[in-house]
Amino acid sequence: MKIFITGATGYIGNKLALTLADRGNTIHALVRANATAGFLQHPNIIPFQGSLDDRLSIRKAIQGCEQVYHVAGFAKLWARDRNSFYETNVTGTVNVLAEALECGVKKVVYTSSCAVFGPSVKEPLCESDPRITAFCNDYDLSKYIAECRVKEYARSGLFVVIVNPSRVYGPGIPTRSNYITEMIKRCIRGKLVLLPNAKGILANYAFIDDVVEGHILAMQKGISGERYILGGENVSYHRVFSDIKNEIKNAKLIAIPQKILKALSWIEIIKNKCTGSEPAFTPSVIERFFRDAALSSKKAIIQLDYQITPFREGIQQTIINLKMNSHA
Ligand SMILES: NC(=O)c1ccc[n+]([C@@H]2O[C@H](COP(=O)([O-])OP(=O)(O)OC[C@H]3O[C@@H](n4cnc5c(N)ncnc54)[C@H](OP(=O)(O)O)[C@@H]3O)[C@@H](O)[C@H]2O)c1
Repeated sequence: MKIFITGATGYIGNKLALTLADRGNTIHALVRANATAGFLQHPNIIPFQGSLDDRLSIRKAIQGCEQVYHVAGFAKLWARDRNSFYETNVTGTVNVLAEALECGVKKVVYTSSCAVFGPSVKEPLCESDPRITAFCNDYDLSKYIAECRVKEYARSGLFVVIVNPSRVYGPGIPTRSNYITEMIKRCIRGKLVLLPNAKGILANYAFIDDVVEGHILAMQKGISGERYILGGENVSYHRVFSDIKNEIKNAKLIAIPQKILKALSWIEIIKNKCTGSEPAFTPSVIERFFRDAALSSKKAIIQLDYQITPFREGIQQTIINLKMNSHA
């Protein structure tokens, strides 16, 4: 089958493209001119030069494809120009959906994010829970607006399923959004890693292979207009610490209190104002680290047969992969 994928030079999309190609599909991958297309070397992957803001390039690449995985996104927490979030995540998504509809694509899977849900209170959040806090950054808001556009397209007849990965980790290409794997890599190399001193706070971590499989299952079994959380275990920072420490005995993990991290994030913002350098983290990221974000993947497990790799096992697999990889 011919399948169109966006974001195949990114962390999630790359593994998805290679998995689908390994299963005998022909992949039309939308690739930007300056992209790292080296990651796409597979006899079944055809790169099409283009961009989400160029509808003609999307049209050329989507022609003849039965299915679309729209994975690409501006997956950062800071941008020189805030509009980048909305241009890529909202307008870019609308461009893909419009072309999919016009070109007679049978099914689309859109990669949203669990960032649209916000913090959890007592119980893990599920797909139908309302958000209880305001949006505090452009990434979360742009992904939310994009979901609204996707639902409009579903109502107007396009078959499109939404998936919401949580914090994704595990072996894969080193982009900024693969930060948990980068953190483990630093631990293996004996470098210092700062973590929030928020030991009891829960967050949800999804293993990359589960998320990739979840996308494929959503394409096969998902209901149009519905969204599915693709998560993993809800794990406290204390567990993150102890599981990494168990596997990497000399890991130098340091827990930093919220106030200090907040102050450091403001220093990053001041540095950015003076030099234009990208902040390593922002005050809104720090805020997020200190609020529970527990999630339930029950709907995906029941409706899609989605499976979760236990956190400990995912960490072990990541470490084995990093140690085997000569770049680790
Ligand atoms: N990683 C996570 O933990 C996580 C969690 C929840 C949801 N998500 C969502 O999953 C999706 C993939 O994330 P990721 O982690 O794989 O991010 P990533 O590694 O940063 O990859 C982003 C991909 O999008 C492409 N892209 C960005 N702007 C584009 C444009 N204007 N035109 C064409 N392609 C463009 C990038 O191409 P270049 O290589 O050219 O830059 C890259 O292939 C995103 O939609 C993100 O919101 C990620």
